[in-house]
Amino acid sequence: MTPAQPKSPERSRVTLHQLMLPEHANALGNVHGGEIMKMVDEAGAIAAMRHAQRQCVTIAIDSMTFDKPVHLGHLLVCDARVTYVGRTSIEVSVKVHAENPITAETMLTNSAHLVYVAIGEGGRPCEVPKLELLTEEDRRQWEEGEFRQKQRLARRARSAP
Ligand SMILES: CC(C)(COP(=O)(O)OP(=O)(O)OC[C@H]1O[C@@H](n2cnc3c(N)ncnc32)[C@H](O)[C@@H]1OP(=O)(O)O)[C@@H](O)C(=O)NCCC(=O)NCCS
Repeated sequence: MTPAQPKSPERSRVTLHQLMLPEHANALGNVHGGEIMKMVDEAGAIAAMRHAQRQCVTIAIDSMTFDKPVHLGHLLVCDARVTYVGRTSIEVSVKVHAENPITAETMLTNSAHLVYVAIGEGGRPCEVPKLELLTEEDRRQWEEGEFRQKQRLARRARSAP
């Protein structure tokens, strides 16, 4: 099956919101990092699936930062955007903001780059649509994503048995 027409990053972009409750806490009473990572991966996977119109699995997560703690009672907002695609892989950049729903104050708390692989019949990687680069920002993100992906594959080659 041939992949669909090229798609711009805006076509697959997604923003998830979740109120942080006591069940999301760590021992210090802030939001547990694993909860944030789970939501980041979910947001990234949705953007990748929207782009590929296929099931996608996570193959790499890198550059995940925890810049500021997230407090209970705040909204976690994950904005996921496709930055680069290979033949079967899709890189997604996710930015996380914490929003105080009472004051509307927001701050950037985390960011990450994740790579997904589109899965076709037989559970094997399958081709994805090209990324349509419409803006200067799309092109800048693409160049940076291409550079990161080259580094990941070089690391993989170096660590191969
Ligand atoms: C995803 C999976 C089927 C890919 O199988 P594979 O034999 O490694 O496939 P390939 O070597 O053809 O690689 C597939 C794509 O991933 C890319 N890739 C492979 N390793 C990578 C890595 N470490 N980092 C980034 N991209 C990587 C390849 O470049 C290729 O992309 P391209 O076609 O755009 O160039 C297999 O690795 C797998 O099942 N992994 C487990 C996934 C999982 O369980 N995730 C967690 C739950 S969602």
